[in-house]
Amino acid sequence: MSEQTLTGRTVAVTGASKGIGRAVVQALTGQGARVLGGARDVTGLTEPGAEFLPLDVTDPASVQAFAARARELGAGALVNNAGVGSFVPVQDITPEEYRRVMDTNVLGTILTTGALIEHFQARHAQGLGSQVVNVTSDVSGRTFANGALYTASKFAQRAVTHALAYEGQSYGLRVTEIRPGMVDTYFGDTQQGEAYKAAWLRPEDVAQAVVYALSAPAHLRVDEVLLHPTVQEVAYP
Ligand SMILES: NC(=O)c1ccc[n+]([C@@H]2O[C@H](COP(=O)([O-])OP(=O)(O)OC[C@H]3O[C@@H](n4cnc5c(N)ncnc54)[C@H](OP(=O)(O)O)[C@@H]3O)[C@@H](O)[C@H]2O)c1
Repeated sequence: MSEQTLTGRTVAVTGASKGIGRAVVQALTGQGARVLGGARDVTGLTEPGAEFLPLDVTDPASVQAFAARARELGAGALVNNAGVGSFVPVQDITPEEYRRVMDTNVLGTILTTGALIEHFQARHAQGLGSQVVNVTSDVSGRTFANGALYTASKFAQRAVTHALAYEGQSYGLRVTEIRPGMVDTYFGDTQQGEAYKAAWLRPEDVAQAVVYALSAPAHLRVDEVLLHPTVQEVAYP
């Protein structure tokens, strides 16, 4: 079977304003897909083939509005990419910071996905498949000093991803986890293009993995893609 084309398909992407999400929007529209992108601040964002809506993945009402537009556009895929980082020792994790990270990375994935499940089930009833791609991290399966909160959120996001894959079997949902190592973005209140990130992955590298998963032929489910910059220390899983 030939590769499934993205032309004419609609994909919803969270965290679409910057970094990896922005590159995903550009890669998907470049392949002919229509994209609905969301982020808390979408001021001034334009991209041929894409429309942007304000979206806070931690806010159920905001997620419902985004999902309603995704349904109107006939979205057949969702990319859960919105995420935040926090890197301090265990004793410095505050309840507020815990909630910010867990709400964005875990609850956000749950709410946004949940808001589209009935739509995906209706698509299945019409003979159409659907896909969810979750951008987690290479640290969704290992941790490091100062990484407790962030990696706890990514372990949890991975668990949600796997549970969804089990559940989605009954309605033809294909679920993919994308696990990048270090990527040169704005992550963790840094700037893109800083000198120390010169050898890291580019957002476009991760976007290509998303394109790969979404353009896989219908009989093929890409469960997971783990990718690292060559310079990053080898560590599994
Ligand atoms: N950079 C890395 O090294 C790396 C490595 C592995 C995995 N990741 C993962 O990749 C994903 C994207 O990160 P990035 O590196 O591209 O970071 P980034 O450059 O900081 O971009 C994060 C994106 O998420 C959006 N966002 C944050 N909170 C949100 C919320 N509550 N609701 C909706 N959108 C929200 C941001 O827009 P607004 O602030 O306007 O909402 C922005 O568009 C994250 O899940 C991250 O954990 C990153």
